[in-house]
Amino acid sequence: MIIGSNLLFFKNLSSTNTRAAELLRKDNLQEGTIVYTNHQLSGRGFSGNSWESEDGKNLLISVVLFPSFINPEDQFHLSMAISLGICDFLIRYVPFCTIKWPNDIYVNNDKIAGILVESSIMDSKIEYSIAGIGLNINQENFTGGAPNPVSLLRLTGRNYDLDVCLNQLATDLDGRYKQLIAGKSGQTRKEYISKLFRLNEWCEYKDLKSNFTGRILTISDSGRIIIEMQTGEIAEYSFKELEFIL
Ligand code: BTN
Repeated sequence: MIIGSNLLFFKNLSSTNTRAAELLRKDNLQEGTIVYTNHQLSGRGFSGNSWESEDGKNLLISVVLFPSFINPEDQFHLSMAISLGICDFLIRYVPFCTIKWPNDIYVNNDKIAGILVESSIMDSKIEYSIAGIGLNINQENFTGGAPNPVSLLRLTGRNYDLDVCLNQLATDLDGRYKQLIAGKSGQTRKEYISKLFRLNEWCEYKDLKSNFTGRILTISDSGRIIIEMQTGEIAEYSFKELEFIL
């Protein structure tokens, strides 16, 4: 086991990603170390947003990885593997889940988990990656103003043991990371695409210019989304260039 071989718990901290980066600077952390907490004072989300989580209710973890076998231009492979690992965990408890590109995890139209991968590149190699995951488990009410948060408790009506969930999630993430190590990133990408939220459905989107109707055809190897417009034109977007209208 790589992911989860070393677990470092902190009762509270600012952000598990920030703490993991600090520890990496000071110590020789082993690959797969998970830094986790009950409470983040300033949990960080994608695009500079914050991440809401009630004390002791959810999984707030950062996985330390040294994926030097991945070219920096293929960094999205790691995001895909992490997204799939979370889905593998979730389908133990819910009938299905989807991945809203680039890496929000959805059940129906609601977001149950978010991922923030931060990597350091040195001499054209990935020196380290910190894969931060916020996975909503036992939180009943969300007050932070996020548009559509949901938790396992809200979906299934029961509470979960967070230590059991952490172990299961670590096992699932480990399986997906090993799929990348084994050189099977093509398989990872295929499974990621098959789980996409709104794949092949005509829906509303907004790009930097206007709103439009389109359908997701696929995701490129570098992680760009490829959309067919109603005019038949094919457009490609990278992160932050496209918004889903929910
Ligand atoms: C998103 O905006 O969807 C990404 C959210 C990522 C939140 C997790 S919680 C654990 C880790 N530490 C952080 O500060 N952020 C990530």
